Amino acid sequence: MKTINIGICGLGTVGAGVVNVMQRNAEAIAARSGRPLAITHIGARRDNPDCDTGLAKVSRDIFAVVNDPEVDIVVELIGGYEPALELVMQAINNGKHVVTANKALIAVHGNEIFAAAEAKAVSVCFEAAVAGGIPIIKSLREGLAANSVEWLAGIINGTGNYILTEMRDKGRDFADVLVDAQALGYAEADPTFDVEGIDAAHKLVILASLAFGMPLNFDACFTEGISAIAPQDVVFAGELGYRIKHLGIARKTEQGVELRVHPTLIPQRRLIANVDGVMNAVLVKGDAVGPTLYYGPGAGAEPTASSVIADIVDLLRTIDASPAARAPHLGFASDFLKALPAIPVSEISAAYYLRISAADKPGVLSHITQILSDSGISIEALLQKEASHDIDAVKSANSHANLLNVPIVLITDITLESRLTAAVSGIEALDTVEGKVTFIRVESLG
Ligand code: HSE
Repeated sequence: MKTINIGICGLGTVGAGVVNVMQRNAEAIAARSGRPLAITHIGARRDNPDCDTGLAKVSRDIFAVVNDPEVDIVVELIGGYEPALELVMQAINNGKHVVTANKALIAVHGNEIFAAAEAKAVSVCFEAAVAGGIPIIKSLREGLAANSVEWLAGIINGTGNYILTEMRDKGRDFADVLVDAQALGYAEADPTFDVEGIDAAHKLVILASLAFGMPLNFDACFTEGISAIAPQDVVFAGELGYRIKHLGIARKTEQGVELRVHPTLIPQRRLIANVDGVMNAVLVKGDAVGPTLYYGPGAGAEPTASSVIADIVDLLRTIDASPAARAPHLGFASDFLKALPAIPVSEISAAYYLRISAADKPGVLSHITQILSDSGISIEALLQKEASHDIDAVKSANSHANLLNVPIVLITDITLESRLTAAVSGIEALDTVEGKVTFIRVESLG
C-alpha cells in the first residue's frame, strides 16, 4: 500500500506540535489510518528548536511543499489571509488535499476554497480552526447530523476567557491581564483579534455554517469586545448570580440567523459559566438531542495538533474512495447549502444588564425606572450600591462636583435591543446620570 506523504507549511508552535505528536504516536496513528504515512516535506522560514524534523526535507520556501509532486496532503499552519490563501489554492490546483488550522482563512475565504476543492475532487479539513483540541467540527458535521440545530453558544477564544477569569478571581484590570495573556502565547499576532472578538467571530461563523447548513458569511457577524468590561461589572454580575463570558452565539429563528460575539452575563449555575482560564466550551442545542456541551483546550501546540492529525487520519481513511464518500465540507452537500437572512443586532431580543452612574439624591431611581417602564421594559433585578466614602476621589472623577454618584445596577426582562438602546439614550440624557450607561446582554442558555 502506498505511503501517504504529508507536507507541512509552517513550523511555529502548532507545526512543531504536529511533528512531535506524529512522531510520538506514529504507530497508533498509522493503525488508525489503516495505511502508512510520513511527513516528507516541511516548509518553514526558520528551524524550530522544539521539534526534530527527522528525515523530512526542509525548504525555506513554503510553496516548494505545495509544488512537491510527492506530497499528497498539505498541512497549512502559517495562519492569516495571505499568503495562506494563495498557498491553499495552489495546493488544491495541484490536486492535493489540505488540512488547515486557519480560522480566519476559512471564515472569510472558505466558500471559494471549498468550491475549488470540490472542482478538483479534493478535501479541505479544518477541525483545528475552531476551539483547538475540541472535536467540535466533527461533532456538528457527523455526530449531530440527525438534528435541526436551534442555537449554539461558545467560549471560543481562550485569551479572552483567561482575561475575564483573572479579572473575576483576582480583581485585576483588563489591560494588566492582557499583557500576561500575550506572554503565555495564546493571543493572536494582533491581540485585538482576541479582545475585540474578531477571532471568536471567525470561529462562530464556521460553527454556524455547519450547524445551519449555510454558506460562510463573516460579514454578517456582529462583534463586540471585552475591553470595556470594568472590574466592578464582574463583581456586580457575581452578586446578581451571573458570570460574564465572551460568547459567540448563533441562533436560527423564523426571520433568519443571529450571529453575534459579545460579553454576556450567564447564570453561574450553567456548566459553561464555569469554564475558566484558556479553556473553551461550545454548547449546542439540537432538537433531537437537546443541549450538548463540548469542553477542552482551545489553543496550544499539542491540543491543536490533536485536531490537525485527526483530520489527516480522516483523509487517509477515504483517500482512495470517491469524493462522495467523504463528509461534505460544511456538513451539508454543497447543493443544499442555503443562505439565511442575517438578523441585525438591533432586532435581537435579550435581557440586559445596565450599570448607571447616577447622582445620589431622591427621585433619581424613579426617573430611571419610569423611562424603562414607558418603554415597556420590565426590571428583573436591581442593585443600588452605597456612595463611595472616598469623597475626594469621587469629586475629582465626576463633573457633578457637589454630588456623590452611585452605581445603579439592574437586569431587565427580555426585550428588543432597539427598544433597550432607545431607553438607554433617554437615561443617559437625564441630568442626574453621569456618562454612558454600561449595558451587557444577558442570556439564560436554558
Ligand atoms: N488566539 C486564540 C485564542 C488561539 O486565544 O483562543 C486559538 O485559536
